[in-house]
Amino acid sequence: MGRYDPVSQPQKNEPDTFAPPPPTYYNGPVAAASGGFPSRSKFDPRGWSLRKKILAGLAVAIVIVVVIVGPYEGVKQNRYPNYYPLKYSLKDTYQGANFFDNFEYWSAPDPAQGFVHYLDAAGAKWSNLSYATDTSAVIKVDTTYPNTVGGRNSIRIQSKKTYNDGLFIFDILHSPYGCGTWPALWLADAYNWPTNGEIDVVEANNAGTFGNQMTLHTTKGCTMGVKRKQTGSVIAKDCYNVTNNNQGCGVQAPPATYGPEFNANGGGVYAAELRDAGIRVWFFPRDSIPTDITDPNATPDPSTWGEALADFPSTDCDIASHFRNQSIIANIDLCGQLGGQVSLYNEQSHCPGTCTDFVANNPGAFNEAYWEFKSFKVYQAS
Ligand SMILES: *[C@@H]1O[C@H](CO)[C@@H](O)[C@H](O)[C@H]1NC(C)=O
Ligand SMILES: *[C@@H]1O[C@H](CO)[C@@H](O)[C@H](O)[C@H]1NC(C)=O
Ligand SMILES: *[C@@H]1O[C@H](CO)[C@@H](O)[C@H](O)[C@H]1NC(C)=O
Repeated sequence: MGRYDPVSQPQKNEPDTFAPPPPTYYNGPVAAASGGFPSRSKFDPRGWSLRKKILAGLAVAIVIVVVIVGPYEGVKQNRYPNYYPLKYSLKDTYQGANFFDNFEYWSAPDPAQGFVHYLDAAGAKWSNLSYATDTSAVIKVDTTYPNTVGGRNSIRIQSKKTYNDGLFIFDILHSPYGCGTWPALWLADAYNWPTNGEIDVVEANNAGTFGNQMTLHTTKGCTMGVKRKQTGSVIAKDCYNVTNNNQGCGVQAPPATYGPEFNANGGGVYAAELRDAGIRVWFFPRDSIPTDITDPNATPDPSTWGEALADFPSTDCDIASHFRNQSIIANIDLCGQLGGQVSLYNEQSHCPGTCTDFVANNPGAFNEAYWEFKSFKVYQAS
């Protein structure tokens, strides 16, 4: 218990005025009737000066803070969910030439106001902006049309199946980057947003050289100003979509987790775990993927992977009620609420002019603007 131990320590903290009275003050029946002490002794506050009362009040307040509030705050800051090992089994595999059969194409206007025209399934096939082989699936931005009005052609897909929990293993061969791009691989219920939550597992913008950002977006009442076990650095702690204009509660990863450096390494695996205890994301570069992920006969066990890159514990966020009915979504937006921000497009990534002018007029600038996925696997606890 240490210095907050209320049993062994309080006498030491008490001012001398609280010391037991000398026996000479005991003087007869009046004192005896009032518990053995004279009725107006120096221990009776009614006889105290204002200064003495304030000092005594302060002393009591300090004792309360040290003995009661101190340990309480300590306990509060140390709260942490129990991420006990779950026994996972494989539920869904998205892989191979029929990869896109299990996805819908989002062709409605972009909810994030991007300078983008998302193609439907027929358009995607006709333009070959999405295609799959036995070894990978690709979605990409149009690189042929010199001038576009209202937005450049691109792809946004979402899994037909939705999930309330699970361990999602995303094996990625190439991440999109380049001026004007705002790509993401995420989990959300696009039709009930932000009610059912959004988990951005992989997200970057423009030059793509600053590392991956993992972010939650929720309704009110989900915050991350709590104990966390993660190697990434905190960007913001309130996940509520209204705070800071939907900034979300983000965690920043180092540069090699996205973009040119990530691609040069042959990509890697992102693992995202969604369970009542919390949401955690790990990243493994191509050459250090755990064998319980690479071995087709094994089952992934996050408890063996070490500290996560991002940790969103349930301490001050009821994960089960904030995150439901999640689809797997992959897209490449252009400009829009995030990609087109002057602070990101111009200042951080040193991209020229305005985002929409650039995207409209430079088809040749989008050769690296494609996702290439080896597979997605979804495990759930049995
Ligand atoms: C689509 O593009 C890829 C990559 O350039 C190519 O391998 C494939 O043959 C194309 N498919 C069609 C139908 O044009
Ligand atoms: C937050 O979500 C609400 C819907 O619950 C929506 O009306 C509002 O526009 C959103 N605000 C931002 C900044 O995204
Ligand atoms: C779950 O998400 C799907 C879209 O992926 C949507 O059509 C459906 O309404 C959602 N269901 C619930 C119960 O929110």
